[in-house]
Amino acid sequence: MAAKTIRTAVFPVAGRGTRFLPATKASPKEMLPIVDTPLIQYAVDEALAAGAERLVFITGASKRAIEDHFDSDEELAELLDSQGKSELARQVRNLLPKYASCIYIRQPAPLGLGHAVLCARPVVGDEPFFVHLADDLIDAEVPCLKQMAGTYAQFGASVLGVEEVPHQDTDKYGIVEVEPGEGPVNRIKSIIEKPKPAVAPSNLAVVGRYVLTPSIFDELEQVGQGAGGEIQLTDGIARLMKREPVYAHRFTGRRFDCGNKLGYLQATVEFSLAHPVLGAEFRNYLRGVAARL
Ligand code: UTP
Repeated sequence: MAAKTIRTAVFPVAGRGTRFLPATKASPKEMLPIVDTPLIQYAVDEALAAGAERLVFITGASKRAIEDHFDSDEELAELLDSQGKSELARQVRNLLPKYASCIYIRQPAPLGLGHAVLCARPVVGDEPFFVHLADDLIDAEVPCLKQMAGTYAQFGASVLGVEEVPHQDTDKYGIVEVEPGEGPVNRIKSIIEKPKPAVAPSNLAVVGRYVLTPSIFDELEQVGQGAGGEIQLTDGIARLMKREPVYAHRFTGRRFDCGNKLGYLQATVEFSLAHPVLGAEFRNYLRGVAARL
């Protein structure tokens, strides 16, 4: 299959984020900031860097703040200008480039990631698309989705972002078994959702980055409830693999699982240390903390 340009990125943001309650009772997990930027902004920036123009958010209860965040707010920008805060005004005006469009689709109930992706079908149509889970924050010189778009361009097939995880953690992820081969990209032989370590075929875990061909939608229509009673994207991909090759890409970069508290705190510390204004002072502060430990 000839590779088409990937124009659309889907951001499933309809989960309830129970691991962050009570913070996520009334506001979305995806609006949690790392330093001063919400997770969903990092997600959108990564997709834009990979060439996406249409940004499709699959939303649910208590997610209005995401729409508000990407809405233009000229009143705020003018207020900042009038206070001499022109750099902040510029940032508020430029959260999205002019060519990007945002589309919001409501997932009626959190029936699973596979169901959330299926909700995007009317907008995505017959084109390949990115899926990006904002709570997996990946710090990389070349944005992760851009790395994966290169692999899609090479093979014209679906690509999953993967990394090795500790063996005892396989039951937290979709796990793939790949064909042997050199380099970061291998064809997937099998995929299974959240296997117990004793039966996991490997420790290569799918993280929140996907390039999918539109054939996935027919498969997701067919899958029933899987692990945890949810419609699992992994199960749809397992079906897709019977029709088309699917590749695993070990991306280059460091992932932070910001869907859990420890990963979120680690990301906050690392991004603060790397921050151009805050970094030096924060490093001194951490030295003081370390001395007390
Ligand atoms: P998670 O299970 O990691 O997120 O789903 P969650 O359900 O929001 O968080 P916890 O486990 O209760 O703390 C992975 C991703 O899939 C989306 C979530 O928003 C998250 O980005 N998702 C999950 C949906 O959009 N819809 C669903 O029905 C399920």
